Amino acid sequence: MEKELVILGIESSCDETACAITKGGKLLSNAISSQIAVHQKYGGVMPEIASRLHLENVACVLDEALKEAGVRLEEVDAIAVTRGPGLIGALHVGIQAAKTLSLIYDKPLIPVHHLAGHIYANEFIKPLKFPLLAVVVSGGNTELVYMKEHLSFEIIGETKDDAIGESFDKVARVLGLPYPGGIAIDRLAKSGKHTYKLPTPLHDGSLNFSYSGLKTAVINLKHTLDQKGEEVVIEDMAKSFQDVAVGMVLDRVEKAVELYPVKEIVLAGGVSANSYLREQIVKTFEGTNIEVNIPPIWCTTDNAAMIAKVGEYLYKEKLFAPLSVSVDPSWRIEDFKKF
Ligand code: KG4
Repeated sequence: MEKELVILGIESSCDETACAITKGGKLLSNAISSQIAVHQKYGGVMPEIASRLHLENVACVLDEALKEAGVRLEEVDAIAVTRGPGLIGALHVGIQAAKTLSLIYDKPLIPVHHLAGHIYANEFIKPLKFPLLAVVVSGGNTELVYMKEHLSFEIIGETKDDAIGESFDKVARVLGLPYPGGIAIDRLAKSGKHTYKLPTPLHDGSLNFSYSGLKTAVINLKHTLDQKGEEVVIEDMAKSFQDVAVGMVLDRVEKAVELYPVKEIVLAGGVSANSYLREQIVKTFEGTNIEVNIPPIWCTTDNAAMIAKVGEYLYKEKLFAPLSVSVDPSWRIEDFKKF
C-alpha cells in the first residue's frame, strides 16, 4: 500500500498566521491565529504590525497544529508554504519558518501560490471538475482563472486597478463601517435598496475588471451629499455599491463561459463569502450544465489547509525549492512553477 503523504502547510500572507496538517489528502488540523481585532483599530491591515504578530505567533500556531493532528515534525513528508502574493514582510515570516524546519528536519520545501490555495480549498469539499473557471475574489486580487486540469492556471481576466475586496474595504471605511468592510457591507446591504446611481466601469468587452472608478464614485457621492447636508442612507449606499461590484463579477463570469468550455465554476478568496454573490451566481447557472461550487465560509478566509492541499499536488510533481528561495509579493499564478 502506498504511504499516505503528510504535509505541513504554513500561511502568513496577510493578517492570519496559520499552520495545518494533511494526511493522505485529509485535513488533520487547521490552526489559525487571526489579527483582525488588532488591525480593526486602524481601519485596515498595517503591514509592519502584521509581520511582527506573525513572528510572535508562528511557533505557537505550529505547535497547536502538530498537537491537534497528533503528528511530529519527523513524520512530515514536506513543508508547503505561501510564497506570494501578499504583504512582503508577512510572507517572509512564513517562508523563514518553513526554511528553518526544512533545514533542521531535512524535509522538502514546497512554495505555494496563495490564490492556488484559495482555489484548491474547494477540494476539501469535493474533487475539482475540469475544465473549470475559478472566480478569485479577494482583498488583494480579482481574477478569472481557467483550469483545463490540475495545476494548469490561465488568467483570462483580471483587475486593471483595485481588487474587489479592497473596494469593499475602502467604501466601508468612508461609510464609517468597521474593518473588514466586506462583511459589514454585506450585512447592511440586506436591508438596503439600490437607490444610488453608480457607474459600471470598463465596457471594453474583455473579461477584465476595474474597481477604482466605482470606489471613487461612492467616495465622491458621499462627500457631495455630506456637503449639501443631505442624509446618506448607509444601507442603500451599501446595497447600491454591492450590486454594481458583484454585478461586474457576474457579467464577466457569464461572458467567460461563453468563450471557454466550463464544467464547473468555483468561488475562491475572501469576497466569495459575500452572500449576494453566492446567491446570484447559483441563480445565474441554475438549470444549466455548469455546476457551481460554493465553498463553506471557513474555506474562503485565509488558512493553511489550502496551502497543504496544493502542496500535495506539487509534491507529486517534485516541485521542491532550494533554501535560497525567497518570497514574491506579486507572484502570478501562471508562474507558480517559477521560484
Ligand atoms: O482572501 P482574503 O482573506 O484576503 C486576501 O488574501 O486578499 O479576503 C479578504 C477580503 C477583505 O477585503 C474583506 O472585506 C472581504 O474579503 N470579505 C468580504 C466578505 N467577507 C470578507 N467581502 C464581501 N462580502 C463578504 N461577506
